[in-house]
Amino acid sequence: MKPLLVLVAYGSDNGSTAGIADMIAAALRDAGVAAHTSPAAQVHTVDGYDAVIIGGAIYNGRWHGDARVFARRHAAALHGRPVYVFSSGPLDDSADHTDIPPVPHAADAVRRLAAREHVTFGGRLTDQARGFAARAMVRNGRGGDFRNAARIGAWATQIASQLRQATSR
Ligand SMILES: Cc1cc2nc3c(=O)[nH]c(=O)nc-3n(C[C@H](O)[C@H](O)[C@H](O)COP(=O)(O)O)c2cc1C
Repeated sequence: MKPLLVLVAYGSDNGSTAGIADMIAAALRDAGVAAHTSPAAQVHTVDGYDAVIIGGAIYNGRWHGDARVFARRHAAALHGRPVYVFSSGPLDDSADHTDIPPVPHAADAVRRLAAREHVTFGGRLTDQARGFAARAMVRNGRGGDFRNAARIGAWATQIASQLRQATSR
C-alpha cells in the first residue's frame, strides 16, 4: 500500500512557525506518515498529498498573509481531503492551558477548507526578530520561546492516527 503523504505548509516571518511545522512533520514521520514542509507561499499544487496541515503566525490579531492566501488558493483542490489548521502566537503559556479560538482570518480558513481541527500553539520571539515593534517587545520583556514541543508532537501523532484509521477502513 502507498504510504500516506502529508503537506505541512506555513506562514512565518521570524521562523518559529516554520519550526512548529518541522516538529509536526517529525512527529508524523515517527508515526509512520511521510511529510513535507514548505513555506505556504511556495506551494503551487497540493496534488499528491493525502492531507494538508496549514499554519500561520499571528501578528496584531491577524493570521499570516501567506497562510490566508494558501487557504483561498487551494480550497477548491482540497475539497474532500482532510485539512488541519494551526495558529502560533501567544508569548506566554496560555495556549497550553486554554483552547484559544482562531483569529478571524484563521476561522475563515477553517470554514473555507472545512478543516477538521484548529489549534493555537504558543509562539516565540527573540531579539533576532525583524521590525521595530518586535524588538521593542523583546526589550519590554515579552520575548521567549513558548512552543510546547510535547503538545505539538501529540497533536501531530493524533492526526497520523486519524489518517491511518481512515485508510485502513
Ligand atoms: C509586532 C508583533 C505582534 C504580535 N501580535 C500577536 C498577536 O496579536 N497575537 C498573538 O498571539 N501573538 C502575537 N505576536 C507573537 C507572534 O505571533 C509570535 O512571535 C510568533 O511565534 C511569530 O511567528 P513567526 O516566528 O513564525 O513569524 C506578535 C509578535 C510581534 C512581534
